[in-house]
Amino acid sequence: MDQKEVRIGVIGTGMGRVHMQFYSEVPGVKIVAICDLNEPEARFFADKYGATKVFTDYRDLCAMEGLDGISIAVPNYLHAPMTLAALDAGINVLCEKPMATKLEDAHAMVEKAQKTGKRLMVHMNSRYRDSSLALGALAPAGQLGQVYYGRSSMIRRRSVPTIHFPPTGIMGRGPWFLDREEAGGGALMDIGVHAYDLMWWFMGCPKPVAVSASTFRMLYNDEAAAKGVKFDVDELASALVRYENGATAFVDVSWAAHSEPEWNVRVLGTEAGIMLNPPTVFRDRGGLLESTKVEVPEPLRVSAQQHFVDCIRDPNKTLISPGTQALEVVKVLDAIRRSAAAGKEVAIAE
Ligand SMILES: NC(=O)c1ccc[n+]([C@@H]2O[C@H](COP(=O)([O-])OP(=O)(O)OC[C@H]3O[C@@H](n4cnc5c(N)ncnc54)[C@H](O)[C@@H]3O)[C@@H](O)[C@H]2O)c1
Repeated sequence: MDQKEVRIGVIGTGMGRVHMQFYSEVPGVKIVAICDLNEPEARFFADKYGATKVFTDYRDLCAMEGLDGISIAVPNYLHAPMTLAALDAGINVLCEKPMATKLEDAHAMVEKAQKTGKRLMVHMNSRYRDSSLALGALAPAGQLGQVYYGRSSMIRRRSVPTIHFPPTGIMGRGPWFLDREEAGGGALMDIGVHAYDLMWWFMGCPKPVAVSASTFRMLYNDEAAAKGVKFDVDELASALVRYENGATAFVDVSWAAHSEPEWNVRVLGTEAGIMLNPPTVFRDRGGLLESTKVEVPEPLRVSAQQHFVDCIRDPNKTLISPGTQALEVVKVLDAIRRSAAAGKEVAIAE
């Protein structure tokens, strides 16, 4: 069956180039426009993917006729204004994580999507890995029983953007990552958002009520100063989150630490426990531990960009990583920053 052609624009050529690559693999998708302040780079990718339009001002891209969807992959503080402009122009949005640097911006984005009736998806791409799609389906299907505990750690040893990544690379090249105004936070907003989100999704998205957190910047102040880079965000964040249903979760993430690198998520329920790396389900069988490797059924496999396009084509299809859930994550990130600043447990702000 012929599917309607879906016309896509991409803003940002750093992580945005990953979006372009995935879109180029989706049948019936045409990348029609690329926007970046760096015009030569935008033109390079426009040529690579056959886009006919190149812009340096996102408002010109949003004014284009016939755009179905847009990917927004720019510094965090720009997610909100660009998303609002695109939704106002009647364009569906796939926005990078974290959804916003400020809670009120995340609320405004969700409200705008509801008002305009357009799709707002957030690029929580760790949900779209095969193993995550399989593990994420277990709690909603009741297979874990009552979920009461989550633990997620993403510990990196030497991964401070700008300091440990080359300016010409794909990842962590922008000094904005280290600037609180532009990034909203450091390791917390960059990788903490993934670590928390994936665990919370595996837990079945319980409602958070309180957070007790600490954040640290201990190791690379001097190197940032020597490079003349503003550095006022966390290198490491840790948080205990309490949920309305009595469940509790612990998350810690770092860009820098004297530690072996680590990335894992564990969730415990009364019927089974799960682990991300390697993807495993644990059950008790007559007192013995049964470990089952998780296999994802073929129909569940999908890239974030394929899913976004599917949801544009079918307005009734349920988003795997909707703006409404990303807003709940921003509430926790906001509470983590407030708790760390206050040095005590804080309530989640609605
Ligand atoms: N989902 C993931 O796994 C993942 C991975 C990396 C980055 N990201 C997210 O992607 C976003 C971009 O990160 P990045 O690593 O690509 O950063 P980057 O600094 O490498 O690239 C950002 C790009 O945005 C452009 N830009 C800045 N202001 C602009 C404006 N006003 N108009 C148009 N273009 C503008 C810059 O010129 C640059 O090319 C961030 O929100 C980041 O958190 C997500």
